[in-house]
Amino acid sequence: MAIERTLSIIKPDATRRNLTGKINAKFEDAGLRIVAQKRIQLTIDQAGMFYDVHRARPFFGELTEFMASGPVVVQVLEGEGAVLKNREVMGATNPADAAPGTIRAEFAESVGENSVHGSDAPETAAQEIAYFFSGLELVG
Ligand code: CMP
Repeated sequence: MAIERTLSIIKPDATRRNLTGKINAKFEDAGLRIVAQKRIQLTIDQAGMFYDVHRARPFFGELTEFMASGPVVVQVLEGEGAVLKNREVMGATNPADAAPGTIRAEFAESVGENSVHGSDAPETAAQEIAYFFSGLELVG
């Protein structure tokens, strides 16, 4: 399988509970390499631009307010089949459905406050990485 990059976000519910290191250990234990990472505070508008595809959903306001409610850690993960591998490590969106041992099964509080975001396909990953990082910030 090809080496890929994917965009990951450690969400405010997780940074608030000081879980960045534990979540990063899950990525690294799965063979994913953190090739870029920064802790930032999003505005509601910046969160809305990132989640633009969900703008018509009933939970959009809740989602953007939550993502702007505290610091997030945005990161680029690299590895073989990184997009799919990251989704496996994260577990299902709703922690009630997440497999044991996944990040969301262990740490997520609800479907909205679910600790991590990961790109859903290589094309989206490229767009999402470009939203947060310049080429100079990606150091493999
Ligand atoms: P994420 O992978 O970041 O992509 C979109 C996010 O919307 C998703 O994780 C959830 O956190 C959030 N989301 C999805 N469904 C709901 C819902 N029913 N209520 C609140 N938030 C939701």
